[in-house]
Amino acid sequence: MKSHIQSLLVQALDALKQQEVIPTDFEARIQVDRTKDKTHGDFATNLAMMLTKVARKNPREVAQLIIDSLPEDSQVSKVEIAGPGFINFFIDDKALANQLMAALNDDRLGIVLPEPQTVVVDYSSPNLAKEMHVGHLRSTVIGDSVVRALEFQGHKVIRQNHVGDWGTQFGMLLAYMEELRTQNGEQTQMVLSDLETFYRAAKVRFDESEEFATRARKLVVELQSGDEYCNKLWREFNDISLSHCHDVYERLGVSLTRADVRGESTYNDDLAQVVIDLDTQGLLSESNGAKVVFQDEFKTKEGEPLPVIIQKADGGYLYATSDLAAMRYRANVLKADRVLYFVDLRQALHFQQVFNLARKAQFIDDSISLEHMGFGTMNGADGRPFKTRSGGVVKLVDLLTEADTRALELVRSKNPDMDEDELVKIAKVVGISSVKYADLSKNRASDYIFSFEQMLSFEGNTAPYLLYAYTRVAGIFKRAADVDLTGARIQLDHDKEKELGTKLAQFGEVVSRMVTKGQPHALCGYLFELAGAFSSFYEACPVLAADNEEQKKSRLLLAKLTAKTLKQGLNLLGIETLERM
Ligand code: ARG
Repeated sequence: MKSHIQSLLVQALDALKQQEVIPTDFEARIQVDRTKDKTHGDFATNLAMMLTKVARKNPREVAQLIIDSLPEDSQVSKVEIAGPGFINFFIDDKALANQLMAALNDDRLGIVLPEPQTVVVDYSSPNLAKEMHVGHLRSTVIGDSVVRALEFQGHKVIRQNHVGDWGTQFGMLLAYMEELRTQNGEQTQMVLSDLETFYRAAKVRFDESEEFATRARKLVVELQSGDEYCNKLWREFNDISLSHCHDVYERLGVSLTRADVRGESTYNDDLAQVVIDLDTQGLLSESNGAKVVFQDEFKTKEGEPLPVIIQKADGGYLYATSDLAAMRYRANVLKADRVLYFVDLRQALHFQQVFNLARKAQFIDDSISLEHMGFGTMNGADGRPFKTRSGGVVKLVDLLTEADTRALELVRSKNPDMDEDELVKIAKVVGISSVKYADLSKNRASDYIFSFEQMLSFEGNTAPYLLYAYTRVAGIFKRAADVDLTGARIQLDHDKEKELGTKLAQFGEVVSRMVTKGQPHALCGYLFELAGAFSSFYEACPVLAADNEEQKKSRLLLAKLTAKTLKQGLNLLGIETLERM
């Protein structure tokens, strides 16, 4: 509908160009927005204000000229000028009802499909030296949701789990693995089941024993020079660490598979070439023996140049180097149109620098869009980064287990008579959904306070509220199982029916905003409002006790589309729905 109004405005502009009211070469960006207040119609545009200069008329005059030039259209019932020169569009109820019928009969709810693109999405990407902790939740959950929405819109999505599987700390881990192996033989597998403890123990050995530290450093060099034995140890370690990650993905219902893993180490063979190519382009400088790039765009507050370090004095490469190689791969081999990075905002400068450099070095051409979808920190109740009671990092597995336990208590208290199996099943969905939804529903760019109480509440914009709202809508059909809806149509007579219908019609616009901006919270907010609109409708408009059969069927269809939209929306957030809870 929005794009339909846009196209009407394009036609009006063309007419005004022909009448020489505005210059023929004038390119206007036509913005159409949903109105906040129903008395202003459904959509509004500020186009008239944008044209006052070129048309040399006041905005209300321009608005009238635009309105006079709009083509006749059956979907728009009224157009008005408001305030300083806004143009408000009122959508015809029949046209809206037709749109809703089309959505009901379409797998993708009638959304407008954009030109399909190839989108590479870099998300989750934990470091394998340690176990996944709460810091990885946001990237994993937000990234996965945007991936789902992109696919829903018909794009080709290539997931890239750019895990940190390389670097000096691996020397220490391999040395420790080796040591345990000599002591415990095959039992080592078991010790690795708790990576966090393993890492800490290795660090203790590294700090206490000079001999161990020397062995660790030697192992890194051997690993880097392709030594078979070291590589075997390293692969074993990463394999175990990755299987921990995939256990977490499975519990979270995240769509990443082993095939999506493409870690930093996969770019090793290209790193020397990255250095050569930067050098050929005359971009490299030396700084204390290291190879670096200075870009004029990046300076410290004091005006000192801020380099990107490409290769250390000892020959080692850095995080930025593999990111440059990864960018080339994504552009040239994966043929990306867009590359999205769901990574902590604290890495914003890193991404600005490497994006800029990749373009400067012509690794990436201008048509490719590189987007850092940064996110803020997950904080505890004290407003500081979320920690365990003893001040350690919170392992993601432990967090999910606690969510399960708390959800079980909650569901049990609501359904004291439900049998245990079903309780556990429902609690699993409620627990995981609550953790995910709490994260997804906040603007990703801001920090947020992690609170089990808040996320497991049935009030407000939470997963339990929405899951429950869904079961209520779905419940209506159980009671209307005998009503035959073939040939029935939606009619929007009551105000609350219109409001619900208008909300339902916005689904596609919301998905498209979510995909462009990488912001699932837009979809969460929408689903919350939709559930609210349904409640108001349901209170004001009896469904099963409607005045007549036609009205009953129409209302059932509205309920059906609401259920379908809620289910699809939650699915794009990676959240399963329940039939009862
Ligand atoms: N492994 C990194 C970390 O945990 C995130 C990697 C993000 N992706 C990238 N291409 N740099 O901080």
